[in-house]
Amino acid sequence: WERHTQTVSDNQLIVVSNRQPYRHTETESGIEVERPTGGLTEGLDPAMRELGGTWVAWGDGDADDAVVDSNDRVLVPPEEDAYTLRRIWLSDEDVDRYYYGLSNRVLWPLCHSFPGKIEYRGSDWDRYKQINEEFANAVIAEASDDPVVWFHDYHLALAPSLVRAQLDTQATLQHFWHIPWPVWDVYRVVPNSHTLLRGLLGNDRIGFHVHRYCQNFLSCVDAAIPEANVDWERQCIRYQGRAITVESIPMGVPVEDIQAEVTSEDARAQAAEFEADHAIPDEARVAIGVDRLDYTKGIPERLDALAHFFDANPEWRGKLTYVQNASESRSRIPAYREVQETVTDAVSEINEQYGTDDWTPVVYTTKRLSRQKLLGLYNEADVAIVSPIRDGLNLVAQEFIAAQTSNDAALLLSSNAGAHDLLGQHALTIDPHDTRQFSSTIETALCMSPHDRRQRMGDLRGIVAQNDLQQWVDSQLDVLRASRQVRPE
Ligand code: G6P
Repeated sequence: WERHTQTVSDNQLIVVSNRQPYRHTETESGIEVERPTGGLTEGLDPAMRELGGTWVAWGDGDADDAVVDSNDRVLVPPEEDAYTLRRIWLSDEDVDRYYYGLSNRVLWPLCHSFPGKIEYRGSDWDRYKQINEEFANAVIAEASDDPVVWFHDYHLALAPSLVRAQLDTQATLQHFWHIPWPVWDVYRVVPNSHTLLRGLLGNDRIGFHVHRYCQNFLSCVDAAIPEANVDWERQCIRYQGRAITVESIPMGVPVEDIQAEVTSEDARAQAAEFEADHAIPDEARVAIGVDRLDYTKGIPERLDALAHFFDANPEWRGKLTYVQNASESRSRIPAYREVQETVTDAVSEINEQYGTDDWTPVVYTTKRLSRQKLLGLYNEADVAIVSPIRDGLNLVAQEFIAAQTSNDAALLLSSNAGAHDLLGQHALTIDPHDTRQFSSTIETALCMSPHDRRQRMGDLRGIVAQNDLQQWVDSQLDVLRASRQVRPE
């Protein structure tokens, strides 16, 4: 109680995202709570537990509505009751139009610069606006004294200006955009592009992973919003009597937690079990790729490069196994189903052409691997291949690095991943479309001297440790922390 009293009378933190940190589902033994795994929700949960406040998100668990009060709220995590989770309910049609439609058939391909994949429907736009209003209304209803409202991602571009119109200037609104921001010439193709920008300009701060996306965003504002004044030197926009700061700060991973987990017996045992289950020969070197099945991730191009590698380097047949874990994603969208089929076919082709009775070149699994297993596999692997066509950042690259204990591994990284801006100097850079260069870089990684490999990995680990998740959260919540420090407990 004391904690909540303090939270309300201090600046209150409200996090707003499409996905929620906890889901409630119906099982035979009653209602169960699923804890967060991966990415944003797992990353922010510890900060919410420390600071308290409210998290507004879509309630997508089948028993979420059974646990909320009359204001759609529930305290989480179970038994700890550290913060409030306020659910937004979406009908099937809302999900179809707001999530699969405008968010993932328009904004996702637009921001990743795949304009050819955009499928715009006016009715999706209307529903996107409506759901953004629902999120904004929930924030307004939850807001008390001078809240700090932290929006996340492309699902919620319109909500900030709606909240701004209702809350006075003491509220701090900030947004982190987790995917790329495209250049103006690409951005301008989408209908209502000005309205989306005006929605985001309701914020006081807008964060991106890398500097280039900030520059792209500022160019779009400069070109599209005549009444906005861009100050390039200060990376700030003057708009409607306010100053909006645009800053780049790449998200990190929880390095200490990963290190603790990866050295556990369990992680080692699970990785060994995976290798035995898939008959990976003991003496084989292992390369690994872990992705959502998304056309931005460049998995077919990676498989082309591998086929080229086995073709050009027959001496590596039987001696390198590539493990690809690909989790199904957004399958209601045809472009996602297409990439799933392309990948399945390409894996079969490689395995048929090069595989033998005791060696499978590509071990392909679409199962969700436990965190322990994944970390164990990262630690065992000799090479990680992160080769997106375009990616906002890519946390897999950083997780792989954080999971190394002996530094005896190499990272192949696409120059088109945001993570390349952070890690490119010490990774082996590949161009996902250049099959020959990609294939010869796989060979470079495998043949590199142990000294060179350790040196590069040591440098990469230094960067990842310096930019870990905690410092990302701290930098985003500094306004809140500063205000709490000056107030008596
Ligand atoms: C990627 C993006 C995130 C985004 C997420 C949504 O991981 O980098 O910014 O929030 O996709 O995934 P979902 O499964 O919710 O569509």
